[in-house]
Amino acid sequence: MTSIVITGGAGFAGSHIVDEVCRTCPDDRVLILDKMTYAGDVRNVYHHVFSNRAQLMVGDIADLDVCRRAVKDARLVIHAAAESHVDNSFGNSLEFTRTNVLGTHSLMEACREARVPKIVHVSTDEVYGEVMEGAVDEAAALKPTNPYSSSKAAAEMILRGYTQSYRMPIVTVRANNLYGTRQFPEKIIPRFICHLLVGRKLPLHGNGQNRRHYLSAIDFARAVSFIAEHGDIGEIYNIGTKEEYTNLQVASMLAGFFGVDPDSVCEFVPDRPFNDARYSISWDKLSAKGWSPQNSLRKDIGRLVQWYETHLWRFAELFGGSVVPRRRRPAEDKAVEQLLSAQAPEFMAAAAN
Ligand SMILES: NC(=O)c1ccc[n+]([C@@H]2O[C@H](COP(=O)([O-])OP(=O)(O)OC[C@H]3O[C@@H](n4cnc5c(N)ncnc54)[C@H](O)[C@@H]3O)[C@@H](O)[C@H]2O)c1
Repeated sequence: MTSIVITGGAGFAGSHIVDEVCRTCPDDRVLILDKMTYAGDVRNVYHHVFSNRAQLMVGDIADLDVCRRAVKDARLVIHAAAESHVDNSFGNSLEFTRTNVLGTHSLMEACREARVPKIVHVSTDEVYGEVMEGAVDEAAALKPTNPYSSSKAAAEMILRGYTQSYRMPIVTVRANNLYGTRQFPEKIIPRFICHLLVGRKLPLHGNGQNRRHYLSAIDFARAVSFIAEHGDIGEIYNIGTKEEYTNLQVASMLAGFFGVDPDSVCEFVPDRPFNDARYSISWDKLSAKGWSPQNSLRKDIGRLVQWYETHLWRFAELFGGSVVPRRRRPAEDKAVEQLLSAQAPEFMAAAAN
């Protein structure tokens, strides 16, 4: 039986891709390859893993042997594993190069050896750098501005070499910022929701005027799955939305949902060493094939807040003693916790061999 391998599938975006692939490809075995860093959580995919719909292989994409074992029967590899948080990349940039560049290279080498027939590489709109006016298409030059986006751009250069030299069947996607459930609360939307839930201030970088487009992770996963089927080999597809807000607007929108005055809850903190003012991409190429976003952050806020309220205890270490669960833990989370302590180590070891 052939398989679909999803790297980083226990993380935020990856787990939504796993949901979509499990839904749309019932005849394929799904294998999640994930190192389970702080950003990965088995609870993001437990519903597939414990029902035997998907298998979790705990391993590092920078380890060529691990990649070889993962992709040996793959008919499709979707590569979403990465170190993804820009703020962390300023202090720990070598880890970003190790995972995002060396890890991508190792995975491609394993895919080349195994002659994997299709690979979707998940990149980011940040590789284009700052775009102050209009929107850039896929032909624009890459001008990354921070260690995270530089490592993502470097990974794309490795892929380009593999595409040209070995005719590797790679399709690359570059997406806007994503929002959705299961995102680790280091990024602005989940962090601010958690801060509002525990009564903390909302720290805004600089003057809060940096702008970002916010695409639903569910729309993103739909786009990745669509591109896996309909995307042309060797091509790059931007995946975007028209929903664009400044950080201050995001803070005000979330504070408004909680019925809190934004002026009383926002605090301005020193900015990153460099912080792109705006990213903006055109996704006409993808919409010409028939994809368009269907969800919107403004409409999804209630659902998002509800999820973080229910799952706040997961992030108790981040918020110290201030996390008081307002609701009882959902039964399934308790069940997963028991499985994790009782069975998971052996299960994961078995999966890795
Ligand atoms: N989140 C966004 O807004 C956004 C926007 C555009 C593109 N992307 C891209 O989407 C992908 C997923 O992003 P995310 O936000 O879900 O990230 P995330 O940090 O939530 O999850 C990353 C996952 O990769 C895993 N991982 C990290 N290092 C690994 C390694 N060496 N080997 C195997 N697994 C490893 C982690 O355990 C985690 O499960 C990334 O490639 C990112 O560049 C994200």
